[in-house]
Amino acid sequence: MLKIRNACPTVRKTMTCLARFGISLDQSLLDSFDKLIAGKGYVNRSEAIRDMIRNALVEDQVERTDNTPTVGTVTLVYDHHTRDLSDRLTEHQHSHHNAIVSALHVHLDAHHCLEVIVARGTAVQVKRLADELIGTKGVKHGKLVLTTVGAETG
Ligand code: NI
Repeated sequence: MLKIRNACPTVRKTMTCLARFGISLDQSLLDSFDKLIAGKGYVNRSEAIRDMIRNALVEDQVERTDNTPTVGTVTLVYDHHTRDLSDRLTEHQHSHHNAIVSALHVHLDAHHCLEVIVARGTAVQVKRLADELIGTKGVKHGKLVLTTVGAETG
């Protein structure tokens, strides 16, 4: 469970409060992140992280309030040696079998597996399913791409 402490409980609504927080991560991951944001022209990590948070919030709001029929592809990368992980991912998929159209499994190397799961439903439903799969402990990388048939755009 994420514990959030309000650093500015007495700030009035009209004032903004600058909060600071620490992040623990592998040095190699941080090095890669620094290269990524430098390539995008950011001069510091804070601005890059603020933009990523804003983007995530906007995307989440759009996806959770839209009832348009959608199709989503969920891409997962994980180490199949992680205890019970393959079983847990399969269990999630079986409990949403009506929404899942297809699943592709690729053995990337001796340790890693790639799964691409195609799911149908409203944006809310597909997002929820993707969150469950991507949020499964041990999944190294996960990404949802939502699309529609574009009927409303002609
Ligand atoms: Ni595999």
